[in-house]
Amino acid sequence: MKLVAASCSKLQSIPSQTVWSEIESERPDALLLLGDNIYLDHDHHDDPERLAGELRALYRRQLEEPHFASLLASLRKRKALVAAIYDDHDFLGNNRYGGDVPPALREAARQELVAAFAPARTGADVYRVHHLGPVDLVLADTRFYRREPARSAHDRDAVLGAQQWQWLEQVVRQSAAPYLVLASSTTLHAFGDESWEQYPVAFTRLRQLLAAHPAALVLSGDVHRNAAYDDSGTIEIVTSGVARRGLVFGGERRNYGVLSFGTEAVRVQLRSLKAYWRFDFAIPRKPWAMP
Ligand SMILES: [Fe+2]
Repeated sequence: MKLVAASCSKLQSIPSQTVWSEIESERPDALLLLGDNIYLDHDHHDDPERLAGELRALYRRQLEEPHFASLLASLRKRKALVAAIYDDHDFLGNNRYGGDVPPALREAARQELVAAFAPARTGADVYRVHHLGPVDLVLADTRFYRREPARSAHDRDAVLGAQQWQWLEQVVRQSAAPYLVLASSTTLHAFGDESWEQYPVAFTRLRQLLAAHPAALVLSGDVHRNAAYDDSGTIEIVTSGVARRGLVFGGERRNYGVLSFGTEAVRVQLRSLKAYWRFDFAIPRKPWAMP
């Protein structure tokens, strides 16, 4: 089973996104868009209709980008999975949290993700598990219920909210698949102020939960770079910046991750225009640890 993951696509700075054709040539079984799939022009929306209007226009432009459109068409033709979650820039704007705004505003943002990608859902929620051969792919919604760290540092339900936590615990404990991949828009580890580490009680709960599965890893995006960690057994693969430019020199990133799940190991290839963000390694199932 081959999964390609990508995040952070800013059409405003890279209008022609050839990277999606590279991804198409991989012929993945699943494409996972980890959030910041579009970038709002305004971070301070307080009117649900205006927010929805801006998101809709941006999604339309992204869906019409020829390389992206061709990739989605080929995936759908082959009945491959297209899975998408949002992060801040395709939800309410930079570093904003759904749990701290009026319900109508966050609901408007969620509806636009649903309209753009028609994802399979859990009730009204966009969190979901997909069973893909040897992999249980678990999509988390880390934005809708999140509150700012100062309000939830000691909350064991932080980031996901009580109901999603309950659901996630059930999914992980019941998973009989050889591998479990948890898709989280934001990183586990400290890159800036959006990581799970900012929520220490919830972070510990997540690490303990994932440790209950023999081969679980977290896939995350958000931070415009590729990276890989094995922090006391919690493996995290970060891939971000599929269509972004660097802040200092303005170079393109074209970062994405290709994960191939085999019987004995998962091969991880992190691709990039930048040599120092390319990685190619395998994580064996036994012992489940980074090489
Ligand atoms: Fe983000």
